Amino acid sequence: MMPDDNLILSALGDVVTNRTRRTRETAAMRRMVRETRLSADNLIYPMFVVEGEDIKQEISSMPGQYQLSVDRLVADCEEIAALDIPGVILFGIPEHKDDIASGAYAEEGIIQNAVRALKEAYPDLCVITDVCLCEYMDHGHCGVIEGEKVLNDPTLELLDQTAMSHAEAGADIIAPSDMMDGRVGSIRAALDASGFAQTPIMAYSSKFSSAFYGPFREAAESAPAFGDRSSYQMDPANAREAMREIAFDIEEGADIVMVKPALVYLDVIARAREITDLPVAAYNVSGEFAMLAAACRNGWLDPERAFMETLTSIRRAGADIILTYFAKDAARRLRGDKATPLSWM
Ligand code: PBG
Repeated sequence: MMPDDNLILSALGDVVTNRTRRTRETAAMRRMVRETRLSADNLIYPMFVVEGEDIKQEISSMPGQYQLSVDRLVADCEEIAALDIPGVILFGIPEHKDDIASGAYAEEGIIQNAVRALKEAYPDLCVITDVCLCEYMDHGHCGVIEGEKVLNDPTLELLDQTAMSHAEAGADIIAPSDMMDGRVGSIRAALDASGFAQTPIMAYSSKFSSAFYGPFREAAESAPAFGDRSSYQMDPANAREAMREIAFDIEEGADIVMVKPALVYLDVIARAREITDLPVAAYNVSGEFAMLAAACRNGWLDPERAFMETLTSIRRAGADIILTYFAKDAARRLRGDKATPLSWM
């Protein structure tokens, strides 16, 4: 518009009818009209457990994240509890791998030992266990294989055993992440039949075959030895199919449904929120963490703003629960601690 036009318009009165800036004027007003809130209550912190003692080994592609032996895991969870983060999700890295994932359901398995130790030290901390076989299989796939095929139904039996052994060790929530068909129903029945009718299932319902799990596979030593996971994990192009996956898991007895990854699938989170009244969780995965940390460490993004904006976007899309490697840092900032350096910077 030319300066002349401006003069004419202002002579006619106020032409701007929609002044959304009014409520952005002060911090107090912005607080009042804020639509989305992030709280420590929404956060779950993922942790990696290894065999041995006194081990705290940083994961090179995930600054500030560690492989921890059970004793160090227990020590580190003191801070989690103090920060009022309600829960952790555990991933096990066994010393021994085979083709029946025996470490996944061993009574003295890495996760079983970790859960017992954590529940003894922090009875109020919600201990969630990831139920998957890939970390325990010598070939790194999430199911039993025949040649290069990942078999569905024979895998269910092993998943059931794994879930029951986690529940027996004291796990508060069972979180199957393998993407075999029918696993939620199968695990639900197994838990019910073994005295764990009260143990909830948080299903990785729409888990996509994603490049963003790269750093996790280094951390969990679970990269597949051949092929990829696209015969069981979802095609990144499919959002309608994601809704079917979620509907099936709900039918089969899921108590919480999850979308994973989070950032590249915010639309899927929003659609999940629309189709169910169950709690929706989103997994802000290792690659999403790593790329943000890398850009911040290069000085390309403002870390303090970037990670909180990221978590807010996942909440805004509709997630009630966020599984994130940023959990501790977010909890600190949310309680007004601006001094503790970010763990990944
Ligand atoms: C196990 C599992 C994976 C993740 C969570 N559970 C890896 C995979 O499917 O390959 C990824 C988590 C992350 O990237 O942070 N199947």
